[in-house]
Amino acid sequence: MVSNLPPPVSQSVAARLTRAAIFLVVTINPGPSSEEAVRGLCGDLSSLLRGVGFRDLNGQLSCIMGFGSDAWDRLFGTPRPKDLHPFREIRGVHTAVSTAGDILFHIRAASMDLCFELATHIMSRLAGAVAAVDEVHGFKFFDDRDLIGFVDGTENPVGQAAELAALVGDEDTAFSGGSYVIVQKYLHDVERWNKVPVEEQENIIGRHKLSDIEQPDSMKKPYAHNVLTSIEENGEQLQILRDNMPFGEVGKGEFGTYFIGYARSPHRIEKMLENMFVGNPPGTYDRLLDFSRAVTGSLFFVPTATFLDDVGAEVQPVAEGGTKEAPEPRPKSDARPGDGSLGIGSLKKEAGHE
Ligand code: HEM
Repeated sequence: MVSNLPPPVSQSVAARLTRAAIFLVVTINPGPSSEEAVRGLCGDLSSLLRGVGFRDLNGQLSCIMGFGSDAWDRLFGTPRPKDLHPFREIRGVHTAVSTAGDILFHIRAASMDLCFELATHIMSRLAGAVAAVDEVHGFKFFDDRDLIGFVDGTENPVGQAAELAALVGDEDTAFSGGSYVIVQKYLHDVERWNKVPVEEQENIIGRHKLSDIEQPDSMKKPYAHNVLTSIEENGEQLQILRDNMPFGEVGKGEFGTYFIGYARSPHRIEKMLENMFVGNPPGTYDRLLDFSRAVTGSLFFVPTATFLDDVGAEVQPVAEGGTKEAPEPRPKSDARPGDGSLGIGSLKKEAGHE
């Protein structure tokens, strides 16, 4: 059947990396009025984003909104993204914990003022409807290094490869153009890490620290981070899109990396995590974890911006005990990626949704 609807626009998952970000994870309070408030925000997020983003045209403001598995059922019911499930704890040599989270806001901009302003508007719209369970303000550090001193993000796919890695395609047509995202907040024992000789640190990461050049494959240790996170299927590398950010509070001795990974399927991120925490083969685990502890872990689905725009208009409020209906899926196989400038919904007008 040929549809006259324009193709859906993705949220700005593959937007350029920025110097500042806020990672805000909230849970939805009980009751239909809380769900109603969240649905209301879905439809208005693009407008909030335009309002704040237009104040600084070079500010690269974007916001991604993702939903946890239980929240999806509460807010949208069926159909649901086929691989959406709660984040599963991984117990290996170290543990990847699973923690609460119904909605993720990943707000990025060239400067923190824009992120902060948008987060403020979002939370005031959701006052009484949600509880913040984690909020991290990330910043870029010298040379895009993380707080263990290594350049972080080098091997990220870019352009079309990034979209191919991060956006759902024809494997789930009702949700193509969407993305799965896993977040984990890591705390580093920097004092102990800094006592490890640089050469061994380089073996742990699999790259040279100062130059950021990758070690030759023949020299890499089987436990190197870049060995355990390189996974293949049918001879092809399965990539994800990361936008890790340093964060911390010096006075508290807190030094962290906020890991965020987008992928067209959560399985590839879960496989990397299994390799890191359990080891590949089991026991050959990621030595970075001897110095870095995951204190949160959640999985979300990021629907398209078009889906969000349509939520307010199309989702019927539910009667007690009834089922909810998600916005009518569009023909998604030709989904368009977000434009990465004003972020989600910036094409809303162009697409004639207002
Ligand atoms: C403490 C948290 C983490 C830190 C500090 C960290 C740091 C790094 C660094 C420094 C690199 C090398 C440069 C680059 O290509 O970006 C890297 C690569 C990479 N990391 Fe992480 N990472 C962390 C957690 C994770 C997690 C949880 C995953 C996946 C589940 C992951 C997946 C990857 C991948 C796929 C690469 C590229 C490997 C390659 O193709 O060479 N990282 N990471």
